[in-house]
Amino acid sequence: MIKIAVLCSGGDSQGMNTCVQAIVNMATVHGIMVMGVRRGYQGLIEGDLVQLTRESVANIGTLGGCELKVSRCPEFMTEAGVKKGYDVLQKNRIDYLIVLGGDGSFRGAIDLERMGAKVIGIPCTIDNDLFYTDKTLGFDTAVNNAVSAIDNMHQTMAANDRGLVVEVMGRNCGHLALNAAVAVGAHSLAVKEMGCPLEEVVIDVKHCLFNGVKSPIVVVSEAMDYTVEDVRKAIEKECGIECRACVIGYLQRGGTPSVFDRTFATQLGINAIELIYQGISGVALGIRNSNIFYMKLEEVYNLKDEFNKLLYKQLRSLHNLK
Ligand code: ADP
Ligand code: F6P
Repeated sequence: MIKIAVLCSGGDSQGMNTCVQAIVNMATVHGIMVMGVRRGYQGLIEGDLVQLTRESVANIGTLGGCELKVSRCPEFMTEAGVKKGYDVLQKNRIDYLIVLGGDGSFRGAIDLERMGAKVIGIPCTIDNDLFYTDKTLGFDTAVNNAVSAIDNMHQTMAANDRGLVVEVMGRNCGHLALNAAVAVGAHSLAVKEMGCPLEEVVIDVKHCLFNGVKSPIVVVSEAMDYTVEDVRKAIEKECGIECRACVIGYLQRGGTPSVFDRTFATQLGINAIELIYQGISGVALGIRNSNIFYMKLEEVYNLKDEFNKLLYKQLRSLHNLK
């Protein structure tokens, strides 16, 4: 009987639970035994494994967060840490390991594979910063959460003719900020990829106010080297309107996964088990032009970020900004 393990690592993202559920259900169909590793690489090093069954995952598919729990594990960034993890896999006779995680977690997966483990990577992060795939699992829900939070806040800002400055997550990557900004029709967007010094954000807001906007929305990526409070103060000082600032933070990372993420998670889980059933490993799954595909884990970093400059420019053109 094939025996596999699954772990979730790094920041949790919506859809991880759905994916684990699909993995277990599909594995059961093929008579494959699934062990869940609790707390990512930390749990792997400690041998914290539990058997997962159809029954034990029956009610997790619709939940945000991560029932297996995640961790950030500095020890796994050392060769000794990876060796400990590899030994646990050997001791427990694990044939394949499925790693659900982001950029850092995939680096750990590659290290394990180089040591001789058979690994499959599933891209999970709200940041959408694994560029070999059009989307990472959790991104769609996180954008929807950000949009819903901004919409709510903007209703009250508009009632008071106030400006709104919102910081969104994404680590070093502006994809979440861009997609949320377009969906809410933001009047200025600050992302690292496009430079966006604070003075230019203020100029955007001035321009929009001049054109009759009463309650401008500014979306700021967390990667910027100024804070939303800096932006708020600058707007109040330079533009003469009242303004409020908000960091929406973990609101984006929790909550029920969207329909897209549930479907994507289910497809990823099914495909991971199909690959294992065919004896394929050392690969990462992804989605391109709506099709699930896989490529060598070692090659996922060859593809660099392509920030959607066209969409950024289109957003600016909405408000006649240069
Ligand atoms: P994410 O996977 O969401 O990008 P992190 O960057 O925090 O999250 O990485 C998650 C975990 O992956 C880290 O805590 C560490 O255990 C492991 N990891 C990260 N980078 C490496 C690396 N270069 N080599 C080995 N393991 C790594
Ligand atoms: O990688 C996901 C993410 O939510 C980033 O957007 C954010 O910068 C980071 O994790 C926050 O990490 P933590 O949960 O450790 O505060």
